[in-house]
Amino acid sequence: MTAHAQRYLDYCHNRRKPQLIIDTDPGQDDAAAILMALGLEEMGLLEVLALTTVAGNVSLHNTSKNACVIADWAGRSDLGVYGGAEKPLIKTLITAQHVHGHNGLGGMQLHKPKTPLKVLHAVAYMVDLLTHAEPYSITICAVGPLTNIAQMLSLAPEAARGIKEIVIMGGSYFHPGNVTPMAEFNFYVDPHAAQVVLQAGVPLRVLPLDVTHQALLTRERIQTLADMGNDNGPRLATLLDHYERHEQASLHAGGAPLHDPCAIACALIPELFEQKRVHAAVETQGQLTMGACVVDWWGKSKAIANVNWATAVDDEAFFELFNAAIAALP
Ligand code: RIB
Ligand code: CA
Repeated sequence: MTAHAQRYLDYCHNRRKPQLIIDTDPGQDDAAAILMALGLEEMGLLEVLALTTVAGNVSLHNTSKNACVIADWAGRSDLGVYGGAEKPLIKTLITAQHVHGHNGLGGMQLHKPKTPLKVLHAVAYMVDLLTHAEPYSITICAVGPLTNIAQMLSLAPEAARGIKEIVIMGGSYFHPGNVTPMAEFNFYVDPHAAQVVLQAGVPLRVLPLDVTHQALLTRERIQTLADMGNDNGPRLATLLDHYERHEQASLHAGGAPLHDPCAIACALIPELFEQKRVHAAVETQGQLTMGACVVDWWGKSKAIANVNWATAVDDEAFFELFNAAIAALP
């Protein structure tokens, strides 16, 4: 690892190891995020307590099966995987098979997972864990629609005491939307849930398209994964090659944005990202603007800032950390 990237890792040594719940809708970039987190756990840098799944990129059935398959890939059939919401709070579910493939993992042939899906619902699991956890000790990385988290905060507000922060991949402001001109996918699928979470008064960091589009999967970066001597590097290269081909074709040259791993990296080393304290809210009424994230950049509304909004990332250091994590896996 270069001295540049190592300086970021040095931040971790005198900090408590983050304890993560990853709320996810796998999804190819979700798979990269989950594998990154499990690789960082192998490196002794954080602890993944559980995966909680939500409908989003594909149906809940597929996101839950995919989460179990990804845990198998990392050799972690011990990991708790809890299924959550099969639809948004109010809106009808929309999915993204055109990006992530019919099964959510780029159409890869998937084995029957060894990792079992828990019987307990994801929201019940979160409430129980957070209610009994040490105050302000658990980090939630939210990389799908926020339905589970909104339900948890609404049904058991006292559970929020167990949350250190919620690191959200979602929204956009200076960057166009990726599902409508105004809205990013996770916030568009369930705008009501996104608004509940943003206004809940819990510590929040938001990684919007404004910053994830600076973390681009170039051909060289996919080749670095393909050249790794383990199973998960080449596997992820295959998965992300499918993803990159769609995203690049549909959005812009230069490579596909690696959205969800940005949330994992920010949970471990927020210093990788430039961030600004702002007030952000999600539109739940507009026809053209449904799901849009409205950021009060100049404080015009006098509303109290409720999020750390990421504006830039050190992408070279981010990918070094990402590669080191994937290389730490089987
Ligand atoms: O807009 C990008 C987000 O939507 C990512 O989390 C991707 O997995 C999809 O869920
Ligand atoms: Ca996702």
